[in-house]
Amino acid sequence: MAKFEHHIFVCANQRPPENPRGCCDPEGLGALQLVFKQELAARGLKASVRANRAGCLDQCEHGPTVVVYPEAVWYGGVKPEDVKEIVESHIINKVPVARLKLDEDCVNTVSCAHKSPRKPE
Ligand code: FES
Ligand SMILES: [Zn+2]
Repeated sequence: MAKFEHHIFVCANQRPPENPRGCCDPEGLGALQLVFKQELAARGLKASVRANRAGCLDQCEHGPTVVVYPEAVWYGGVKPEDVKEIVESHIINKVPVARLKLDEDCVNTVSCAHKSPRKPE
């Protein structure tokens, strides 16, 4: 079996509405990952690109969060209507979608312009 060329991890973490960190999937339906799966299938990419439903990727304040490997490109605020563009531009044409990319200063930092300092969970 051929190796996957890309893994797309899609946060589907659900938290209660009162949680101050928010969450990427308030309904807990995994709908965004399903849209990725459908788009990959429609493009004939099922064998080479995998869209995985992920737990919290620790970028909640920037969510819904998606990360694409092996490039380790992080996307924030991803909506179902953005999926076609990510697949077309990033996966097929190898050009990450600049307007959805998280700033380097935002990824894996304790605080940034979007989150207040906090203790690790
Ligand atoms: S809930 Fe999605 S990154 Fe934390
Ligand atoms: Zn940020």
